[in-house]
Amino acid sequence: MRKSSTLFKLILIYRIFNAFLTKTFFQADEFWQSLEPAHLKAFGYGNLTWEWNIGLRSYAFPFIFELGYRSCSIISSCIYFILSTFDKILLSTVLQNKYLKESNFLLGILKEFSLLTNAIPQETGYLLVLYVPKLIMAFISSIGEYYTVMLAYKIYNLTFAKEDKNRNGPTIIKIITILTLTNFFNNFFITRTFINSFEMSLTSIALYYWDWSFENLQINQFSFSLSLFISMFTILQRPTNGFIWLWLGIHKLYQLLSNRKWMQILRIVNAAIKSFSFALALNCLIDYYFYGHLTFPVFKFIKFNFTSSLSKFYGQAPWNFHIFQSVPIILGYNLPLFLYGMITPLYTGKDNRHIFKLIKFIILMNIIVYSMISHKEFRFIYPLQPFFQIISTFALFKLTARYKLNLNNNFFWILPTISTIAALFLCRVQEGGVMDVMYFFHSIKGDITSVGFIMPCHSTPWQSHLHKNNIQDLWYITCEPPLHLLEDTNSDKLLLEYMDESDYLYDNIQLFLYQNFPPVYNKGLRSPGKQYLHEWPEFLVIFQHLDDEFMKQYLEDSPYFEYTRFSNSFIHWDSRRSGDVVVYHKRPWA
Ligand SMILES: *[C@@H]1O[C@H](CO)[C@@H](O)[C@H](O)[C@H]1NC(C)=O
Repeated sequence: MRKSSTLFKLILIYRIFNAFLTKTFFQADEFWQSLEPAHLKAFGYGNLTWEWNIGLRSYAFPFIFELGYRSCSIISSCIYFILSTFDKILLSTVLQNKYLKESNFLLGILKEFSLLTNAIPQETGYLLVLYVPKLIMAFISSIGEYYTVMLAYKIYNLTFAKEDKNRNGPTIIKIITILTLTNFFNNFFITRTFINSFEMSLTSIALYYWDWSFENLQINQFSFSLSLFISMFTILQRPTNGFIWLWLGIHKLYQLLSNRKWMQILRIVNAAIKSFSFALALNCLIDYYFYGHLTFPVFKFIKFNFTSSLSKFYGQAPWNFHIFQSVPIILGYNLPLFLYGMITPLYTGKDNRHIFKLIKFIILMNIIVYSMISHKEFRFIYPLQPFFQIISTFALFKLTARYKLNLNNNFFWILPTISTIAALFLCRVQEGGVMDVMYFFHSIKGDITSVGFIMPCHSTPWQSHLHKNNIQDLWYITCEPPLHLLEDTNSDKLLLEYMDESDYLYDNIQLFLYQNFPPVYNKGLRSPGKQYLHEWPEFLVIFQHLDDEFMKQYLEDSPYFEYTRFSNSFIHWDSRRSGDVVVYHKRPWA
């Protein structure tokens, strides 16, 4: 028991470092689907994407960040209270003393101090807004990894333990801890505020509490109900998570049916109904809190993603995307171990022989199902990571036993080290500029009237990193999906023709600017009464790509000048986002 809490602390400290060192942008959802709605709720300002406007997402995950943000406000109010009280006491002491009162030097210091009384809570408040979500993610991901390790240990105990004279339990724990902590994708991804990381952690906890034994020893215990509850709650966040539980459930029922354990079946059904009701009630409550009315985002999510072709709007990947890209990237250097583990029997003893076969079967079925969904991203199969790690771990365990490998050999650290450094590099360097530009706008003292981002939509975080509510006009080029096609039977075809604002921009930049912006040189050139979609902002943010292609020349004789730039990427998969982030500033109109 004591040992396992040490293990958890170790993982947690590692992940806190990991989270704090991460300062780059991976994908829009990292901010727009988690921190932004939470920021809006906690501070009263922020921007919602269409998913939140039509109620497609459950608020449960962002809710955790809202609680974090609210504690930030409380902490900075406390700091303010303490400082300002101190300030008042100091001031009244000085003013009451007729000698001290005369000292300009002392009064000067007091004045400085009263400025700090406002500045310190504000600055710490901002730092907290940036770092508290990281702490939360470090915590969530450590729990997930800890339970992955514990699940491996549990499986060891259910299978090898009885016949293993060498008592290799600690070896298993050691192997899987090292594999998961040095996994490239974990280090790159796990502490980012993606719901897939949350999903992975919940899955890992629920898998640990699942009853894996052949004798079904745990079915009557609280832990089994907990497993059901957590898995059902996870499915309400991400319905695709059900593909893991479907097979586990079928297997369990099949086991019980073939042994004619009717009472146990009844108990499971009973526990499942109860857990589902609890999970649904909890989720409804949270969503009611956010949306202000009773709503079931999960059903809309299913409708959107599986029964309409609209999800194709977000890209269609080839069928083999997960097999050839997601699985290798998520496994990293474990890939050979994993493949070996998948094709070789990992356990030939007598106890609970079904466990490894079941896990492999679930992995295969999930990869098949995910491959059939047209919209594919690496992170979608991330909840399988606990299984990936377990298969790799037992594969390595088998290899060490077979070839008498000594894992203490320094040679074995080469790949883990390279993989960790590579992840660290991406966390520090690639796509940092789109974050820096938000810190930059936060740091500008005084009022900013307007900031506009002419780049593909959601290329930067928003108020979760800007955290400034006095910019009157803050806008970006949008990318609304064609929601009007949701009910359309012909949507497949119409979808191909649909263009959002970002598409129009890059289709013909000159035309786009001509149609949606007033002339840039001079305010006097506008045709009277004409309405424009956008106004030229005080600060204009673009990618270097747009600058080189068009803007630099276009703005040459305009009131704009390049104010600053942030290096963002050397190469980028999306050419529209390549190069630096460039900030233009406008002099007052002539
Ligand atoms: C979010 O920003 C977009 C683009 O500038 C704008 O159209 C929309 O009205 C904003 N929404 C909110 C809630 O501020």
